[in-house]
Amino acid sequence: MRRRQWLAGEARADGVDRRTLLRLLAAAGLLTTPAAGLFVPDRAFARAPAAGSPASGIVKPLPAEWFVPQGTNAEMRWDALRDADGRAVTGRHIPVERFFVRNHTSTPLIDPDGWRLRVFGSGLRDAPPAARAVEFGLDDLRALPATRIDALIECAGNGRSFFTSQQGLVVPGTPWTLGGIGSARWRGVRLAEVLRRAGLTPGAVDVLPAGLDPEYVVDGVGFGHVRRPLPVAKALDDVLLAYEMNGEPLTPDHGAPVRLVVPGWIGIASVKWVGTVEVADRPLYSPWNTDFYRLFGPDYPPGGSAPVTTQVVKCAFELARGAVLRAGRSHRLHGRSWSGAAPVRRVEVSTDGGLRWLPAGLHDEPRAGNWTRWSIDWRPERPGAYELRARATDRRGNTQPEAAVFNREGYLFDAVVAHPVTVA
Ligand code: MTE
Repeated sequence: MRRRQWLAGEARADGVDRRTLLRLLAAAGLLTTPAAGLFVPDRAFARAPAAGSPASGIVKPLPAEWFVPQGTNAEMRWDALRDADGRAVTGRHIPVERFFVRNHTSTPLIDPDGWRLRVFGSGLRDAPPAARAVEFGLDDLRALPATRIDALIECAGNGRSFFTSQQGLVVPGTPWTLGGIGSARWRGVRLAEVLRRAGLTPGAVDVLPAGLDPEYVVDGVGFGHVRRPLPVAKALDDVLLAYEMNGEPLTPDHGAPVRLVVPGWIGIASVKWVGTVEVADRPLYSPWNTDFYRLFGPDYPPGGSAPVTTQVVKCAFELARGAVLRAGRSHRLHGRSWSGAAPVRRVEVSTDGGLRWLPAGLHDEPRAGNWTRWSIDWRPERPGAYELRARATDRRGNTQPEAAVFNREGYLFDAVVAHPVTVA
């Protein structure tokens, strides 16, 4: 229905019509280089970031041994999850200081005492207009029943660079390898609880959380604050308004004082620094569900797919690309696998470029919306160049293909990734 409305011109991304947007994105090269040219942070909103990473607009330090800089974003290095002796340095969750960051603009510093969540719209009883929203302070949210969930946040573009390096396809945007992801334990209040208290009606259709970070601007055209509608069914299902990450209050880069956590869905759904939530009795639109985060290309319907929701199946090795391993010795290869749709059922590993596949041993009880750690032993006898591969299958039968289906923005790369190593 959304796609039809968009194509029929009924949906407008808040004043930016589709043709203008496409022209802008084309002019921006959408984008052949990482973020720098596209993201124009409005520094006026955020206070000066602390020392450590001022150019990125990210507040926390970004040591090179933990992160790959990606413009306004910071990618987690998978090899940083093991020390020099191959020992794990994290558990199932990624510590906050090592967690990847994906910012459209820059991290705002928000005073938690002055912060209010304003809930308004036609899907509420007595439909308060924006000016008369139902408001919640942080203490109000903390006083409501708390819920804890373990969930991944994963960027829709995670793995994007492999469209180019493995499939020879040019795609714009941040060239993530596989580190646009992290798992954490989140604590907060269910969005359903807050909506119910705000007076949700059975006629509500869409819920639109908006962030308080600086407005997103491309080539001088403003798209407003980051915001993406959620269907009310998802909003009432398992979405959290989180105020804690791994047992501590949220930090600025990860959405302090309160963010959404939308399990299983692409990261953009998990709006950080949430300030308002509109609840509407009709479908809502923003650039983030009309032109960004939809799939365009020859294998998708003319005009594009429906807005992207669930994440795909992926695997990553906890090992540097190009790592050097000793010949004639047994090595324990470690990795993690995940799927937005269902728990991981099995992981297979190939050390000979994909000819023979062996099952890896799973170390976590697989759960939907989180990853499963695994390992497999490998004893390479002959020195030389090798390509490791890992392939996961989830309980719905989704498995990683040899090649990902192309889409213009390079979202949802799900193919098996070749991981080069040298045996010496
Ligand atoms: N929320 C706001 N307000 N602004 C943003 O730029 N980025 C989104 C999402 N929420 C974003 C946001 C994207 S694309 C991702 S992948 C996740 O936040 C990243 O969360 P993290 O930085 O805590 O890892």
